Amino acid sequence: MDLEERAREILPQGVYDYVAGGAGDELTLQENVAAWQRIRLLPRVLRDVSAVDLGTTALGTDLGSPIGVAPTAFHRMLHPDGEVASAAGVAAAGALHVVSTRSTTPVEQVAEALGDNPWWYQVYVLRDRGLTEELVRRAVTAGAKALVLTADTPRLGLRLRDVRNDFTLPPNLGSPESLDRPGNLADQDPAVTFDDIGWLASTFGLPVVVKGVLRGDDAKSSIAAGAAAIWVSNHGGRQLDGAVATADALPAVVDSVGDSAEVYVDGGVRRGIDVLRGIALGAGLVFVGRPVSWALAVGGSELVATTLQTLRDELELALALAGCPKVGDVTSDLVAR
Ligand SMILES: Cc1cc2nc3c(=O)[nH]c(=O)nc-3n(C[C@H](O)[C@H](O)[C@H](O)COP(=O)(O)O)c2cc1C
Repeated sequence: MDLEERAREILPQGVYDYVAGGAGDELTLQENVAAWQRIRLLPRVLRDVSAVDLGTTALGTDLGSPIGVAPTAFHRMLHPDGEVASAAGVAAAGALHVVSTRSTTPVEQVAEALGDNPWWYQVYVLRDRGLTEELVRRAVTAGAKALVLTADTPRLGLRLRDVRNDFTLPPNLGSPESLDRPGNLADQDPAVTFDDIGWLASTFGLPVVVKGVLRGDDAKSSIAAGAAAIWVSNHGGRQLDGAVATADALPAVVDSVGDSAEVYVDGGVRRGIDVLRGIALGAGLVFVGRPVSWALAVGGSELVATTLQTLRDELELALALAGCPKVGDVTSDLVAR
């Protein structure tokens, strides 16, 4: 039985649906997975793959692999140890971690569980800029190496499963700190613009990654406004239903960005081969969301680590079979057109 099915058996229906679901008719949710699967590869042969090196760098930091963990909200809804358990699992696997603004654990405790493992902090610019600044400042002090501005959530998408389930956050969750004050319930200030990229970069002095970009022109405007990297994402199909799958959006964004910034991707990545596909299409890092949520729910930090390790093993094998001893050998000609 796969992890998602096991999670479905143990989680309350509303919690399972909150994580599994997407917006509207869930077309984008389904397309994210299908779009990776449509990509056919042209492996190289006879390339001496006796040693495969998954190492890479992002924003000047050396990383053990190009696999990262996307920010997801409310981990204590999935496991009593919440973000501490997920962070410990991610650190054990040595993957880049991104901590959500909607963490149900204080960022200082998450940072402690991460130890020396590199991590970034995801930012929702809340209507209360003072609170936003306070939350980001704490993350920076705790050791975040970059800020990830989520740009695709001026309002929450219409998640019909949550409507049908009349879903509300479980009462035993404790209050996520970003929701602590009245008036902050909206996910993000809908008035956020490209100017806020520059505000984040200059206020906190860290590189800013803009997450949720699907268009080349938005990527260019973000970079012009001070972004160091572009993260192609449709929020796992949870925002605008009908939005293009990320695997389909990635090539045009990579083209328009050129060498001016790094480009990453997430959405529907389920196998190491999908990571290879993402890199071949020009992504420097490839992130997973739900697979880590299911692992956390079913087996806490240990299963988070095992799940990420499996993904890494699959990627290592895929590189060998594609004739690529290094991540840098994965080029666009590996994709059959
Ligand atoms: C349950 C859940 C909660 C999420 N919470 C956040 C969040 O707090 N901030 C954010 O930027 N993205 C959030 N996302 C989007 C993820 O960062 C990521 O873009 C998406 O999950 C990737 O797709 P995948 O789940 O198919 O791998 C969330 C996604 C899920 C499934």
